[in-house]
Amino acid sequence: MWLLAVSVPLLPAIVMASGRYRVKVAALCHRALAWALRLVRGKVCVRSTHAYVFTNCTHGRVDSVLETFDLYAETHPSLCISSRIGKLDEVVMRAAPSLVLELGMHCGYSSVRLLRLLPPHGRLLTVEVDPLAAELGEEIILVAGFKHSQFQVVTSSSAEAIPTLRPVLEADKGTGEGFGLVLMDHDPQQYLPDLLALEREELLSPSGCSLLLISRNRRAEELRDVLQHIRARPDRYCIKSDFQCMMERCGCALSD
Ligand SMILES: *[C@@H]1O[C@H](CO)[C@@H](O)[C@H](O)[C@H]1NC(C)=O
Repeated sequence: MWLLAVSVPLLPAIVMASGRYRVKVAALCHRALAWALRLVRGKVCVRSTHAYVFTNCTHGRVDSVLETFDLYAETHPSLCISSRIGKLDEVVMRAAPSLVLELGMHCGYSSVRLLRLLPPHGRLLTVEVDPLAAELGEEIILVAGFKHSQFQVVTSSSAEAIPTLRPVLEADKGTGEGFGLVLMDHDPQQYLPDLLALEREELLSPSGCSLLLISRNRRAEELRDVLQHIRARPDRYCIKSDFQCMMERCGCALSD
């Protein structure tokens, strides 16, 4: 009874608060639903893309693997493959990195594209949070004819992986200086924290590192925070080009 007596005067406040929360809760539900959908569609997509490429390409031939991916993308709207990733070639050739970090490997399409453009001593480190995507992606890289001496798949979240990468770099003779190219194609919410972690761990090559940020659903606002960070530091970053959903950022002098 006393509870009722206390809560009646509070009622307008409670109603107001719940009204305000309703918007928040709705937004939260919306995000959770979008995330779950992406997850399910992502898994189906990874499986079917992998099956198609694995059975239809000529094993051991990189060009055949990429052509089969493209063929699949022509007939199936695919989350894993975006023709815009074709721009990747331009960026890789310009940056000419010997050590590349890829965050989010999906079906292995961009990993294969990257690997075929690296110099003979070049290496790719690719981080994928989904164990299934990591396993199937790794298989595709091997099918394309690359060896484990040329790449390493790290199955974990980017946040967990980044602080463990320094010893990997140091073990790589001649490339111990840092990544010459970082491709971010995982969760855009992670782009800024991951970039900050890469800076903190001094993993970007001081002689210049190209940063490629991919926004798959072309929503500019999902890149807003990370772009703000980059634009605020013209001493560190210069903007090389601005594709519709792929940004190339070139880290110039990375000294503090
Ligand atoms: C291989 O390609 C053919 C022809 O495009 C297609 O019908 C078939 O489903 C593909 N195989 C797999 C396992 O997806």
